[in-house]
Amino acid sequence: MSTLVDPAGIAAGHPAPLDATTHIVPVAGTTATAEALRKPETARQQRRRPHIKGTIVLPADHTWTPQDGRLLEVHDLAVEFRMREGVAYAINGVSFHLDQGETLAILGESGSGKSVTAQAIMGILDTPPGYVTGGEVRYCGTDLLTLAEKSRRKVRGAQIAMIFQDALSALNPVFTVGNQIAEMFRIHRGMNATDAQAEAVRLMERVHIPGAAQRVKAYPHQFSGGMRQRIMIAMAIALNPAILIADEPTTALDVTVQAQIMDLLKELQHESGMGMILITHDLGVVADVADRIAVMYAGRLVETAPVGPVYANPRHPYTQGLLESVPRLDTKLGEILPAIGGLPPNLLAMPSGCPFHPRCKHAIDVCRTGTPPLLQQVTANGHVACHRVDHPDVLAASHRIATVPGGAATTEGVRP
Ligand SMILES: Nc1ncnc2c1ncn2[C@@H]1O[C@H](COP(=O)(O)OP(=O)(O)OP(=O)(O)O)[C@@H](O)[C@H]1O
Ligand code: SF4
Ligand SMILES: [Mg+2]
Repeated sequence: MSTLVDPAGIAAGHPAPLDATTHIVPVAGTTATAEALRKPETARQQRRRPHIKGTIVLPADHTWTPQDGRLLEVHDLAVEFRMREGVAYAINGVSFHLDQGETLAILGESGSGKSVTAQAIMGILDTPPGYVTGGEVRYCGTDLLTLAEKSRRKVRGAQIAMIFQDALSALNPVFTVGNQIAEMFRIHRGMNATDAQAEAVRLMERVHIPGAAQRVKAYPHQFSGGMRQRIMIAMAIALNPAILIADEPTTALDVTVQAQIMDLLKELQHESGMGMILITHDLGVVADVADRIAVMYAGRLVETAPVGPVYANPRHPYTQGLLESVPRLDTKLGEILPAIGGLPPNLLAMPSGCPFHPRCKHAIDVCRTGTPPLLQQVTANGHVACHRVDHPDVLAASHRIATVPGGAATTEGVRP
């Protein structure tokens, strides 16, 4: 057995021994509603709540073909963390899709569930305490949650790959970068060491690492942060995945390097036609590269729509708050930007009704005590989860963001 870490795991940000059997995602067949799940439970009840491990093993020659260009369909996904202090309902009925060549940006405050959504798709949730308790993750029509870990492992890295913000901790410090990239080809393609090393050099050149033939023998600490991120990207794209999930790929980098990495991702996407899920806090990056946006709050999607309409007319009060809080081209020097008051909710003690109501200036009684709002279609391609989405006050706030002096809130206009 090799002593190297599993490169597919590295691409997923989880360096694990090759024979590790971690990251098995139990999948619940339960159809319990979010309301029912929120009732206080004893620790014993929590442990007993059904969660089903996927068991289907796909034949070795199984091929993955997108149906009508649709790569991924996440439906009603629910994830919870069962801890001593209680159950944290981290993801509550999240649904979205991704098509070939498309970039979907997932946006939201810290703790809103962006990374957990990505981990559930990849099948790398920390279990325990994390459990997928409902929903579907359909890749090319097959629900990945029903697959046995053996089949899931073949999807991870080869079909759906992931890059993480912190490349240094995701790369193994004791092996050369060339070895770590080459391992992908040795394991998944059965290449010999010489051919795999040649492929590693080719990939390093493809992600524009200067002097790739010499630097293939260098160790991760001998590279700058931007170059390490390029190596992570090289490993992620090594097997030509159909989907790349980039979880805050540029947050740890300075602005110039951020732009270079985003340009590289765009270039690779253009060449390969892969779909990309981009998780970020950066509204400027979203405006530059995304086709559609999914805004998350407290483990729920609150607004999804193509980028242009969201920036021009954000319909959910939370999205409106996010966009109002970034500088725009027409922001005057010294002007204080409005911030969303309050704090994100504690997932162990979620507020009743709409989870955003303690911070929402438009909240009324139904928001505080009624059932949480579900996503509803408000435009041809736009969906919003708000009881008051059509109320004149909420519409006026949306309109204000679109018509501030100096022009509309174009995607350029909100660039920091
Ligand atoms: N291993 C874990 N154990 C317990 N709770 C967890 C675990 N991983 C995530 N959570 C909880 O799930 C929630 C969502 O976390 P997640 O990492 O998805 O947030 P995020 O939106 O990616 O935030 P950030 O922008 O800071 O990365 C958080 O409240 C977090 O505390
Ligand atoms: S449902 Fe109510 S509290 Fe929630 S965002 Fe809409 S107006 Fe605000
Ligand atoms: Mg995260």
